[in-house]
Amino acid sequence: MSAPIRVLVTGAAGQIGYSIVLQIAKGDVFGPNQKVTLVLLDIPAFATPLEGVKLELIDCALPTLAGVEAVTTEAEAFHDIDYAFLIGAMPRKEGMERKDLLAANVKIFKSQGLALAKYAKPSVKILVVGNPANTNALIAAKYAAGKVPLENFSAMTRLDHNRAAAQVALKVGVPVENVKNVIIWGNHSSTQFPDVAHAKVLKNGQEVDAVGAINDTAYLQGDFISTVQKRGAVIIEKRKLSSAMSAAKAAVDHIRTWHVGTKPGEFVSMAVASDGSYGIPKGLIFSFPVTIENGKWSIVQGLKIDEFAQGKINATTKELEDERTDALEACGESKQ
Ligand code: NAI
Repeated sequence: MSAPIRVLVTGAAGQIGYSIVLQIAKGDVFGPNQKVTLVLLDIPAFATPLEGVKLELIDCALPTLAGVEAVTTEAEAFHDIDYAFLIGAMPRKEGMERKDLLAANVKIFKSQGLALAKYAKPSVKILVVGNPANTNALIAAKYAAGKVPLENFSAMTRLDHNRAAAQVALKVGVPVENVKNVIIWGNHSSTQFPDVAHAKVLKNGQEVDAVGAINDTAYLQGDFISTVQKRGAVIIEKRKLSSAMSAAKAAVDHIRTWHVGTKPGEFVSMAVASDGSYGIPKGLIFSFPVTIENGKWSIVQGLKIDEFAQGKINATTKELEDERTDALEACGESKQ
């Protein structure tokens, strides 16, 4: 086995944290032949439950787990890390406006961006899960600039991607592994655009266009999109808790794909810094279809965007631009 990979999980005493740490520790992300050292960060008020999570991980007696550290300071947490799952964020409190929540959370990510620059390996790869995930990633990247490259930052839309693939599979009546190349464009929010225009389905041994297999434009432009967009809210309504299990699984999928690469002919959705592709303003952390090779993602180029899709992409772009303005203001920056 090679030297252990040092992996940080923030918000590790929280719901997603509890679901994800075992999966990382037992090799679901980096494989059965790669040891990991898990660094668990939460706020000092959660130091005791965090210690409990650490004890449980030890009790799992896993050959892939080289060590566990439960910490409550950024200096300890970000020291020398190879990967960061930035999950910890402040939950929305009653009466809190969206803008107040954004302001509180982007300040956390400003501080973590500075900590990444100061303590992490420059090669560290970062997945932001804590909401507003895209804009938190933008802020963390901004404050780590000069030390950690922009392309090492990403935000999670893989849960939305998985939800979209699962809905297509249900509609067509095939196993979910027979569905590929759904796309989530834009923000991880209700303005995201789940798009099946380029998706393929393996049906009766033949690869066909998902649009043709579904053959229901009204559904694809209506219920399909709203089901994926509102899935998180529906789960909160039913469970009275957010979708931690599926979010943890999606975060595992996101980093595993980044680590091992995409399969030939396949792309996945990942929110990354725009390079201007598809007319998205440079630097916005925007969910695109990407392929990954040797740990480097590339935005899939040349996909045809019709008028309907363009309208949806414009709406989510506008929301991300507004979030960026609010976030920079909350960080005390008047201009980007
Ligand atoms: P949770 O409230 O159960 O856990 C959050 C944890 O983060 C808590 O233990 C809290 O103490 C900790 N925390 C707060 N500030 C911190 C800081 N500065 N440093 C380290 N830890 C800190 O929440 P849950 O359900 O685990 O969700 C976490 C985040 O993930 C939320 O922002 C949620 O909205 C987001 N989320 C994102 C999804 C996505 O697809 N991008 C999907 C589902 C959730």
